Amino acid sequence: MDTSTQRTFRDMLSDSPRTLKNVLRAQDFRDRGFLAELFAIAGWLEKNQTNCMQGKKLVLLFNEPSTRTRLSFAFAGERLGANIHAVVRSDSSQEKGESIEDTVRTIVAIGADGIVLRHPNEDAVWRAALVCPVPIINGGSGKEHHPTQALLDVYTIFREVGTLDNLNIALVGDLAFGRTTNSLAYLLSKFSGVTIYLVSPEHLRMKGELVYYLSTAQGVTVKETSDLESVIHKVHVVYQTRAQKERAPDPTMHAQLSQYMIDRRMVERMKPGAIVLHPLPRNEELSREVDDMPQAKYIDQMRYGELIRRALLAKIFG
Ligand code: NCD
Repeated sequence: MDTSTQRTFRDMLSDSPRTLKNVLRAQDFRDRGFLAELFAIAGWLEKNQTNCMQGKKLVLLFNEPSTRTRLSFAFAGERLGANIHAVVRSDSSQEKGESIEDTVRTIVAIGADGIVLRHPNEDAVWRAALVCPVPIINGGSGKEHHPTQALLDVYTIFREVGTLDNLNIALVGDLAFGRTTNSLAYLLSKFSGVTIYLVSPEHLRMKGELVYYLSTAQGVTVKETSDLESVIHKVHVVYQTRAQKERAPDPTMHAQLSQYMIDRRMVERMKPGAIVLHPLPRNEELSREVDDMPQAKYIDQMRYGELIRRALLAKIFG
């Protein structure tokens, strides 16, 4: 990269003096201005290269399975010049009973400049942050939070629909145990004229605390329903999700989700220009027959995911 481009990128980062250390929950993205800054950085990085993480060591500490989140952080960091080190639970001293605090202290003592942590226990990321002097990013915590997934979801909507204001969005499926929908609902509430349809069987509803929060957010309308058919023609975005079988206490809890299958017939009933998103991985809730329809944006969603995570890393470490 020549120096003039380098200067432009530095200017861009310093034009946005709001700093960010940890990303533990979607609330850490503060306001829509902050999101706009990240979107602008992502737009720049799509066309330009920078080594702003040169010499930095980023550790991906993943205590739950992951393909997309782990790889996209790895590629994002590598593209910024960072050295990436992945640690999985089965391969670390956590298997010997080491606490998350000691694992994090160890990683930092040895020289990490940042950590991305995925953990099945909701408390772990907070415990980790308490003892972590370097930036820590939540890559998914139990059934509670997945802030960078929400970030890539809103970025995908921005790129594919062109705006996040005045949209109707359906979050569909297991809203009780899904963390992506919690974080996304929170981020969507920063925009105006947004109507969020929470579509799930009654026993898999989003937690009341968050529904209450959404209902009090200015410019946001929230509606809970168990009937996808009644909203499908009204929405600009359908955000389908997987049954979180690994988190539910009872395997029969998800039986009713079969009524929310997104298939060709369902997609054909959507508004012109409406899109289908899914954080993936999918099971039977999203039919493969949708994959080649123009509304299907879940593959692009992963591409935007790497890009916006690159922007996030540049913002934190650049
Ligand atoms: C999600 C997750 O891990 O919460 N996947 C992802 O990060 N892309 C969704 C899921 O596992 O269902």
